[in-house]
Amino acid sequence: YDASAESVSRPLVHYTPKAGWMNDPNGLFYDRSESTWHIYYQYNPNDTVWGSPLYWGHASSKDLTTWTEHADALSPSSNDSSVFSGCVVVDRNNTSGFFNDSINPEQRVVALYTEHSPVSQRQFAAYSLNGGYTFEKYEHNPVLDGNSTQFRDPKVIWHEETEKWVMTATRSHEYVVQIFSSSDLKSWELESNFTRHGFLGYQYECPGLAKVPIVGNSSLVSSGVTHKWVMFLSINPGSPMGGSFTQYFVGDFDGKVFTPDTAETRLLDYGKDYYALQTFSATENDDVLGLAWASNWDYAAYVPTYPWRGSMSLVRNFSLREYQPNSEAAQLNLFSEPIINYDALRLNQSIQTNATNIKKNDQLFFNLSSSAHGLLDLSFEWTVNKSNVGKKDFSALTVKLIGATDKEEYLELGYEANAQAFFFNRGNSNVNSMKENSFYSDKMSANVEPYELLSENEAVFKVHAILDRNIAEIYLNDGVSVTTNTFFLTDGNFIGALEVRSSVDDVYTVSNFNVKTTSG
Ligand code: FRU
Repeated sequence: YDASAESVSRPLVHYTPKAGWMNDPNGLFYDRSESTWHIYYQYNPNDTVWGSPLYWGHASSKDLTTWTEHADALSPSSNDSSVFSGCVVVDRNNTSGFFNDSINPEQRVVALYTEHSPVSQRQFAAYSLNGGYTFEKYEHNPVLDGNSTQFRDPKVIWHEETEKWVMTATRSHEYVVQIFSSSDLKSWELESNFTRHGFLGYQYECPGLAKVPIVGNSSLVSSGVTHKWVMFLSINPGSPMGGSFTQYFVGDFDGKVFTPDTAETRLLDYGKDYYALQTFSATENDDVLGLAWASNWDYAAYVPTYPWRGSMSLVRNFSLREYQPNSEAAQLNLFSEPIINYDALRLNQSIQTNATNIKKNDQLFFNLSSSAHGLLDLSFEWTVNKSNVGKKDFSALTVKLIGATDKEEYLELGYEANAQAFFFNRGNSNVNSMKENSFYSDKMSANVEPYELLSENEAVFKVHAILDRNIAEIYLNDGVSVTTNTFFLTDGNFIGALEVRSSVDDVYTVSNFNVKTTSG
């Protein structure tokens, strides 16, 4: 392929394959002996749209920020089959018997994935004898045959309490997450079905269980509960925002049955581009990290990137924290923190300002460096003085991120006091393929409660936005909600200036305004 024909600048810290099509992340693991992360992903090297045969692409990273692409790690058994989504586990104790003593325990990598064919979807196992670069298929595959064409996406974890491997996989069109257990990764026993929970959409995909630490004060922590189990589940299409989305449930898991605490489903991300999430863990301590595909099946095949399509999200660190969605309720919510190694990036500009009260006819304006076409990291807080908000006034604080070469192209993010909601707008773009795409919605919103109350009438909110060439990840109030969205400016354009405005007087004070850019 001709790299000079690239139509849109490539994201820097969001992984993209050099060429070809990528969707779901598959099988993430950390090789402690080499201090290296490995990711695999749904990959079609032969085209920039999804299509069979699909492979597992492979990349690695030392810091989850810069990635090196490797040769494909898993290939389908025949030309009319595909290696569909799955996971990897590190089988340190060789429970599978796939390894001998010559293989470092930290590199005893076993993949469990779906072998898709026109007549079946069955779960296969494969093991690596070289630290995850290539895999040997288990000779007695499948390890699990559900007599179905819609049975897929195995995700396996080690369940400490019962000392067993646990797999979740979906019977996608029956809206069932099946939970299996195993002591050797080869023979699997059905333990229970988690069925018809949350949004159903057209089908269930990519389920997963993780034991997530509870952080901060809550009545649970004071009664000695340190963790809760979270079930992640993707559906497509049928998201309330349109197309693909990832939902989650908080509850308990005893190694056999997942029991949600309450009836509701939660959104993991309020944007349009956060799908097929998988969690993984780094170390002996129990952090839960997550990676998703930053796209949406509704329009993934049309995004104007070349010669690749598809990118990953940032890796996020998940925790559960008590959150008050209103003054009378409290619930455990998943908080997301982005992981970026800023030391690996050449930050070339940093702007900070003092607290500023934004008047209606005023603005804060910042020209960014002319080489700021890499990463843009923006964070600030705003205080809303509710006593000055008129019911009929659209009372918005808006940050406009304006194109450098074409000012008609810009993004907007901000908050409106009557709606008590945050917004993001990616619609002001001259890229025709996306402008004309009816599924590529322009405007996103997320309701957001104050981070802190200074007085009865004064509430503080926080935002951290990371813009990486064509993906914006926006974290509100330390990650109680996130909105992740791709955006596209015409070739050569990048964000060149920031403008902060208020549509009303004496309502908004902006503080801790902090912008960092890199030249890429
Ligand atoms: C989710 C998904 C999975 C499947 C894979 C195929 O995006 O449809 O259910 O395994 O993609 O590429």
